[in-house]
Amino acid sequence: MKRVYIYKGFERFWHWMQAFLVIFLAITGFEVHGSFSFFGFEQAVKLHIIAAYSLIILIIFAIFWHFATGEWRQYIPMLENINKQIRYYITGIFQNAPHPVRKTSLSKLNPLQRLTYLGLKIVLFPLMISTGILYLFYRFPQSDAGIKITIDNLGIIAYLHTLGAFLLIAFVIAHLYLITTGQTLISNLKAMITGYEELEEEENE
Ligand code: HEM
Repeated sequence: MKRVYIYKGFERFWHWMQAFLVIFLAITGFEVHGSFSFFGFEQAVKLHIIAAYSLIILIIFAIFWHFATGEWRQYIPMLENINKQIRYYITGIFQNAPHPVRKTSLSKLNPLQRLTYLGLKIVLFPLMISTGILYLFYRFPQSDAGIKITIDNLGIIAYLHTLGAFLLIAFVIAHLYLITTGQTLISNLKAMITGYEELEEEENE
Protein backbone atom coordinates (compact mmCIF):
# COMPACT_ATOMS: atom_id res chain seq x y z
CA MET A 1 0.00 0.00 0.00
CA LYS A 2 1.16 3.53 -0.73
CA ARG A 3 -0.07 6.88 0.56
CA VAL A 4 -1.27 8.73 -2.54
CA TYR A 5 -2.32 12.40 -2.80
CA ILE A 6 -5.69 11.92 -4.44
CA TYR A 7 -7.86 14.97 -3.67
CA LYS A 8 -6.27 18.39 -4.27
CA GLY A 9 -6.82 21.43 -2.05
CA PHE A 10 -9.44 23.16 -4.19
CA GLU A 11 -11.22 19.88 -4.81
CA ARG A 12 -11.66 19.28 -1.06
CA PHE A 13 -12.74 22.89 -0.46
CA TRP A 14 -15.25 22.65 -3.31
CA HIS A 15 -16.57 19.27 -2.08
CA TRP A 16 -17.17 20.41 1.52
CA MET A 17 -18.59 23.82 0.55
CA GLN A 18 -20.93 22.14 -1.91
CA ALA A 19 -22.01 19.61 0.73
CA PHE A 20 -22.65 22.38 3.27
CA LEU A 21 -24.54 24.56 0.77
CA VAL A 22 -26.72 21.73 -0.56
CA ILE A 23 -27.71 20.69 2.98
CA PHE A 24 -28.32 24.32 3.96
CA LEU A 25 -30.37 24.90 0.79
CA ALA A 26 -32.40 21.77 1.57
CA ILE A 27 -33.10 22.99 5.14
CA THR A 28 -34.04 26.56 4.13
CA GLY A 29 -35.83 25.34 0.96
CA PHE A 30 -38.08 22.95 2.86
CA GLU A 31 -38.87 25.69 5.35
CA VAL A 32 -39.95 27.88 2.40
CA HIS A 33 -41.93 24.87 1.20
CA GLY A 34 -43.76 24.86 4.55
CA SER A 35 -42.44 21.52 5.84
CA PHE A 36 -41.32 22.98 9.21
CA SER A 37 -40.46 26.26 10.89
CA PHE A 38 -36.97 27.09 12.16
CA PHE A 39 -35.56 30.40 10.83
CA GLY A 40 -39.01 31.85 10.08
CA PHE A 41 -40.35 32.05 6.52
CA GLU A 42 -38.89 35.45 5.52
CA GLN A 43 -35.45 34.69 6.96
CA ALA A 44 -35.49 31.24 5.30
CA VAL A 45 -36.20 32.85 1.90
CA LYS A 46 -33.30 35.33 2.38
CA LEU A 47 -30.88 32.63 3.54
CA HIS A 48 -31.95 30.32 0.71
CA ILE A 49 -31.20 33.00 -1.85
CA ILE A 50 -27.79 33.88 -0.33
CA ALA A 51 -26.82 30.18 -0.25
CA ALA A 52 -28.11 29.72 -3.83
CA TYR A 53 -25.91 32.56 -5.14
CA SER A 54 -22.95 31.15 -3.17
CA LEU A 55 -23.50 27.73 -4.75
CA ILE A 56 -23.70 29.23 -8.24
CA ILE A 57 -20.39 31.12 -7.69
CA LEU A 58 -18.77 27.95 -6.28
CA ILE A 59 -19.96 25.94 -9.29
CA ILE A 60 -18.53 28.53 -11.72
CA PHE A 61 -15.11 28.22 -10.02
CA ALA A 62 -15.44 24.41 -9.97
CA ILE A 63 -16.20 24.28 -13.72
CA PHE A 64 -13.11 26.41 -14.38
CA TRP A 65 -10.99 24.17 -12.12
CA HIS A 66 -12.22 20.95 -13.76
CA PHE A 67 -11.29 22.18 -17.23
CA ALA A 68 -8.03 23.91 -16.20
CA THR A 69 -6.72 20.75 -14.47
CA GLY A 70 -8.21 18.18 -16.89
CA GLU A 71 -10.04 16.59 -13.93
CA TRP A 72 -13.28 16.66 -15.97
CA ARG A 73 -12.00 13.42 -17.54
CA GLN A 74 -12.72 11.62 -14.26
CA TYR A 75 -16.42 11.87 -15.13
CA ILE A 76 -16.31 10.33 -18.61
CA PRO A 77 -18.74 7.37 -18.35
CA MET A 78 -17.02 3.98 -18.25
CA LEU A 79 -19.65 1.34 -18.87
CA GLU A 80 -17.63 -1.89 -19.03
CA ASN A 81 -17.41 -2.61 -15.28
CA ILE A 82 -20.78 -1.23 -14.32
CA ASN A 83 -22.41 -4.66 -13.80
CA LYS A 84 -19.56 -5.77 -11.55
CA GLN A 85 -19.92 -2.60 -9.49
CA ILE A 86 -23.69 -3.05 -9.08
CA ARG A 87 -23.24 -6.72 -8.11
CA TYR A 88 -20.56 -5.66 -5.62
CA TYR A 89 -22.94 -3.23 -3.88
CA ILE A 90 -25.81 -5.75 -3.83
CA THR A 91 -23.96 -8.89 -2.72
CA GLY A 92 -20.12 -8.73 -2.84
CA ILE A 93 -19.84 -6.04 -0.19
CA PHE A 94 -21.60 -8.29 2.34
CA GLN A 95 -19.27 -11.21 1.57
CA ASN A 96 -16.03 -9.22 1.96
CA ALA A 97 -15.36 -9.45 -1.80
CA PRO A 98 -12.60 -7.15 -3.11
CA HIS A 99 -13.60 -3.85 -4.74
CA PRO A 100 -14.21 -4.71 -8.42
CA VAL A 101 -12.55 -1.55 -9.78
CA ARG A 102 -9.16 -0.30 -8.59
CA LYS A 103 -8.87 3.32 -7.48
CA THR A 104 -5.92 5.38 -8.74
CA SER A 105 -5.25 9.12 -8.76
CA LEU A 106 -5.90 9.13 -12.52
CA SER A 107 -9.17 7.22 -12.15
CA LYS A 108 -10.57 7.81 -8.71
CA LEU A 109 -14.25 7.18 -9.46
CA ASN A 110 -15.84 3.77 -10.02
CA PRO A 111 -18.22 3.42 -13.02
CA LEU A 112 -21.33 4.06 -10.90
CA GLN A 113 -19.79 7.14 -9.31
CA ARG A 114 -18.82 8.45 -12.75
CA LEU A 115 -22.41 8.14 -13.98
CA THR A 116 -24.00 9.51 -10.81
CA TYR A 117 -21.71 12.53 -10.49
CA LEU A 118 -21.99 13.28 -14.20
CA GLY A 119 -25.79 13.20 -13.79
CA LEU A 120 -25.53 15.64 -10.88
CA LYS A 121 -23.33 17.96 -12.93
CA ILE A 122 -25.23 17.95 -16.19
CA VAL A 123 -28.82 17.27 -15.07
CA LEU A 124 -29.63 17.86 -11.40
CA PHE A 125 -27.59 20.99 -10.61
CA PRO A 126 -28.56 22.69 -13.90
CA LEU A 127 -32.22 21.81 -13.12
CA MET A 128 -31.99 23.31 -9.61
CA ILE A 129 -30.17 26.42 -10.82
CA SER A 130 -32.44 27.09 -13.81
CA THR A 131 -35.70 26.52 -11.92
CA GLY A 132 -34.30 28.46 -8.93
CA ILE A 133 -33.35 31.44 -11.14
CA LEU A 134 -36.78 31.40 -12.83
CA TYR A 135 -38.37 31.24 -9.38
CA LEU A 136 -36.20 34.17 -8.27
CA PHE A 137 -36.90 36.47 -11.21
CA TYR A 138 -40.54 35.56 -11.59
CA ARG A 139 -42.87 38.52 -11.27
CA PHE A 140 -46.63 38.70 -11.49
CA PRO A 141 -47.75 39.70 -15.01
CA GLN A 142 -48.74 43.19 -13.87
CA SER A 143 -45.13 44.06 -12.91
CA ASP A 144 -42.70 45.42 -15.52
CA ALA A 145 -39.60 43.86 -14.02
CA GLY A 146 -38.41 40.31 -14.34
CA ILE A 147 -39.39 37.37 -16.47
CA LYS A 148 -43.13 37.22 -17.18
CA ILE A 149 -44.18 33.83 -15.94
CA THR A 150 -47.81 33.36 -15.06
CA ILE A 151 -48.83 31.80 -11.81
CA ASP A 152 -49.68 28.58 -13.72
CA ASN A 153 -46.16 28.27 -15.12
CA LEU A 154 -44.68 29.01 -11.73
CA GLY A 155 -46.44 25.90 -10.41
CA ILE A 156 -44.47 23.69 -12.81
CA ILE A 157 -41.22 25.45 -11.90
CA ALA A 158 -41.89 25.06 -8.15
CA TYR A 159 -42.78 21.39 -8.73
CA LEU A 160 -39.54 20.69 -10.67
CA HIS A 161 -37.45 22.61 -8.11
CA THR A 162 -38.99 20.60 -5.26
CA LEU A 163 -38.62 17.30 -7.15
CA GLY A 164 -34.93 18.15 -7.69
CA ALA A 165 -34.61 18.90 -3.97
CA PHE A 166 -35.97 15.42 -3.09
CA LEU A 167 -33.56 13.81 -5.58
CA LEU A 168 -30.62 15.74 -4.10
CA ILE A 169 -31.57 14.63 -0.59
CA ALA A 170 -31.82 11.01 -1.82
CA PHE A 171 -28.34 11.43 -3.32
CA VAL A 172 -26.92 12.82 -0.05
CA ILE A 173 -28.34 9.86 1.94
CA ALA A 174 -26.97 7.27 -0.53
CA HIS A 175 -23.65 9.14 -0.61
CA LEU A 176 -23.35 9.06 3.21
CA TYR A 177 -23.79 5.29 3.15
CA LEU A 178 -21.40 4.76 0.26
CA ILE A 179 -18.57 6.79 1.80
CA THR A 180 -18.41 4.14 4.53
CA THR A 181 -17.74 1.37 1.96
CA GLY A 182 -14.09 2.18 1.16
CA GLN A 183 -11.03 0.11 2.24
CA THR A 184 -12.03 0.90 5.84
CA LEU A 185 -15.15 2.52 7.32
CA ILE A 186 -13.60 5.99 7.29
CA SER A 187 -10.87 5.79 4.61
CA ASN A 188 -12.95 7.69 2.02
CA LEU A 189 -13.92 10.37 4.53
CA LYS A 190 -10.32 10.74 5.69
CA ALA A 191 -9.14 11.07 2.08
CA MET A 192 -11.60 13.91 1.40
CA ILE A 193 -10.35 15.69 4.57
CA THR A 194 -6.57 15.19 4.25
CA GLY A 195 -6.31 14.64 0.48
CA TYR A 196 -4.33 11.39 1.03
CA GLU A 197 -5.47 7.79 0.71
CA GLU A 198 -3.75 4.41 1.08
CA LEU A 199 -3.93 2.75 -2.35
CA GLU A 200 -2.34 -0.37 -3.75
CA GLU A 201 1.10 0.63 -5.02
CA GLU A 202 1.36 -1.00 -8.44
CA GLU A 203 -1.87 0.54 -9.72
CA ASN A 204 -0.55 4.04 -9.28
CA GLU A 205 2.63 3.62 -11.23
C1 HEM B 1 -28.63 26.88 -6.64
C2 HEM B 1 -29.66 27.42 -7.12
C3 HEM B 1 -30.97 27.65 -6.38
C4 HEM B 1 -31.72 28.77 -6.52
C5 HEM B 1 -31.38 29.99 -7.39
C6 HEM B 1 -32.90 28.61 -5.69
C7 HEM B 1 -33.92 29.55 -5.56
C8 HEM B 1 -35.12 29.33 -4.92
C9 HEM B 1 -36.17 30.29 -4.81
C10 HEM B 1 -36.13 31.71 -5.37
C11 HEM B 1 -37.18 29.71 -4.11
C12 HEM B 1 -38.53 30.38 -3.77
C13 HEM B 1 -38.43 31.17 -2.51
C14 HEM B 1 -39.68 32.00 -2.34
O1 HEM B 1 -40.76 31.42 -2.11
O2 HEM B 1 -39.60 33.22 -2.46
C15 HEM B 1 -36.78 28.37 -3.80
C16 HEM B 1 -37.56 27.46 -3.13
C17 HEM B 1 -37.14 26.20 -2.77
N1 HEM B 1 -35.87 25.67 -2.93
FE1 HEM B 1 -34.38 26.52 -3.98
N2 HEM B 1 -32.84 27.40 -5.07
C18 HEM B 1 -31.67 26.77 -5.45
C19 HEM B 1 -31.21 25.55 -5.01
C20 HEM B 1 -31.91 24.70 -4.17
C21 HEM B 1 -31.40 23.44 -3.66
C22 HEM B 1 -30.00 22.88 -3.96
C23 HEM B 1 -32.41 22.89 -2.90
C24 HEM B 1 -32.46 21.62 -2.13
C25 HEM B 1 -31.51 20.74 -2.03
C26 HEM B 1 -33.55 23.79 -2.95
C27 HEM B 1 -34.77 23.55 -2.35
C28 HEM B 1 -35.86 24.39 -2.42
C29 HEM B 1 -37.19 24.07 -1.93
C30 HEM B 1 -37.63 22.74 -1.31
C31 HEM B 1 -38.00 25.20 -2.16
C32 HEM B 1 -39.49 25.34 -1.86
C33 HEM B 1 -40.24 25.06 -3.16
C34 HEM B 1 -41.74 25.22 -3.06
O3 HEM B 1 -42.33 24.84 -2.06
O4 HEM B 1 -42.32 25.71 -4.00
N3 HEM B 1 -33.20 24.88 -3.72
N4 HEM B 1 -35.50 28.17 -4.29
